Amino acid sequence: MADDTTRSGTGGYSSLAIRDYIESLYSPPANDLTDAVGELERTDMPRIQISPTDGSILRLLLQMIRAKRVVEFGTLSGYSGLWMLRALGVDGHLWTCEYSSRHAEVARGVFERAGYGSQVTILEGDGRESLKKLEAHAPFDAVFIDADKSGYPLYARWAFDHLRPGGLIVADNTYLFGYLAGRAPDRNLDQRSIEAMQEFHVFLTSHCVAACLPTPDGLSVGIKPGNGF
Ligand SMILES: C[S@@+](CC[C@H](N)C(=O)[O-])C[C@H]1O[C@@H](n2cnc3c(N)ncnc32)[C@H](O)[C@@H]1O
Repeated sequence: MADDTTRSGTGGYSSLAIRDYIESLYSPPANDLTDAVGELERTDMPRIQISPTDGSILRLLLQMIRAKRVVEFGTLSGYSGLWMLRALGVDGHLWTCEYSSRHAEVARGVFERAGYGSQVTILEGDGRESLKKLEAHAPFDAVFIDADKSGYPLYARWAFDHLRPGGLIVADNTYLFGYLAGRAPDRNLDQRSIEAMQEFHVFLTSHCVAACLPTPDGLSVGIKPGNGF
């Protein structure tokens, strides 16, 4: 079930000391990442960014496929974006979709201060409405899904159609805060989101070579087959 550890990224470690040790080596502090987290506090935005360990996994996955062109759904303050930009190199580009104009504005500042201003395009508004604009830049090397949970199947289908063979679909929170296989709690999460997340998993596993990494809230990864992949 969902608990504080799914959001804070503390689940999955046998102790907090081990988590801190691992993060100190695999996800060491850096000014730009600290800035992105600091902005969440300063502007009273929700602290719902990926964990430092998720960030190092994301960077590694993108580097392994030599990704240069990546789409993200769910920018927040740019924390996950910074991790991905680390893998893309100076000739890479990130297109990131964000519903909230306030979040987009904060993220723009974070990317600028980190020196990535010219390598990032933030598309404001509902991610569904940005799909047509994004298609002009396809094919992509990877799509990272971390926005509205009911949109996951739609984003995944769109990603599959606009990735190169060997490209990756990566999605966070695919345990749906612990509710993937259960009934919706009487809160912000409705039954439709559970059905949508299950539809996402069925799509990913039936179209891609896929795995769901057992991070605190599940990080699903699928590779689009074709051209030897
Ligand atoms: C979990 S946060 C993203 C965290 C970010 N990927 C990170 O790790 O730093 C989800 C973000 O998606 C945005 N969002 C929610 N629904 C959306 C939609 N329909 N289209 C685009 N963005 C959306 C929210 O405003 C929020 O900023």
